[in-house]
Amino acid sequence: MRAAAVCLVLFACTAAVHGARRPVDTFKNCANFSALRDPRLAATVQLIKKLDLLPAGIPDDLTLFLPTNDSLKAVLVGGPIPSVSSDLDVILSKPLIPEIAWRLNAVFLYHMANIGPATAAELVDEGVVPTVLGPDYNLKFAAGRGKGTYTVSDARGIAANTKEASSLCGSSLFVIDKVLLPAQSFEDIPLVNPTEALCLLTGLGCRAPALGLDPPSSGEEAPAAPAPAPAPAAAP
Ligand SMILES: *[C@@H]1O[C@H](CO)[C@@H](O)[C@H](O)[C@H]1NC(C)=O
Ligand SMILES: *[C@@H]1O[C@H](CO)[C@@H](O)[C@H](O)[C@H]1NC(C)=O
Repeated sequence: MRAAAVCLVLFACTAAVHGARRPVDTFKNCANFSALRDPRLAATVQLIKKLDLLPAGIPDDLTLFLPTNDSLKAVLVGGPIPSVSSDLDVILSKPLIPEIAWRLNAVFLYHMANIGPATAAELVDEGVVPTVLGPDYNLKFAAGRGKGTYTVSDARGIAANTKEASSLCGSSLFVIDKVLLPAQSFEDIPLVNPTEALCLLTGLGCRAPALGLDPPSSGEEAPAAPAPAPAPAAAP
């Protein structure tokens, strides 16, 4: 828990935190997504590839929430996200118009947390899960009704059900049964272009300073480290 807690506080983790325990073949089939072969997630993986949201493959050191085929269908067909067909396979085979693609980028970044590979118990302890989408976009994680079940709730207060995470490419993966949306309506979901998405995920290619990578402004002293000794007591 300690490593994950530190990561939550700092909002970013280095590979070093978890690197020591990682088996050598952890990254096999990660670059081309074939490590993610769960058929329940086939449509979601297809959409993520189509958006080219993860050009380097499945990222490591994240906590990922990935919605099932059926839940993706529920938002794309007759749901809050406007789409061109009532057939999920048709939607996935057609080009996406940029506005929809950019909002879907935001939706998927809202499903990723840069907190290291967290377990369900760690997330229950934390309660709030910061997402890659930005500081205003958190998820809530809680224990569910049944043993070993959990819920993860979005900005609308809608709760997806999940179970313990599995390990995937140095990240942890929670399969969820609802798509989590970062805003009440589709129009309120931020537009995130591919460059900005990469910036939010990796801190690379950013126009604005990336999260946590803000350069120190000149003329401003870094705050001094707290003195080890207690401050002198005031005179009686
Ligand atoms: C994916 O990459 C691995 C190497 O990590 C390779 O062995 C495998 O054949 C690739 N699979 C596909 C479908 O390209
Ligand atoms: C999930 O969706 C994909 C793409 O639509 C489809 O090929 C696959 O068979 C589906 N799997 C399940 C279990 O529904």
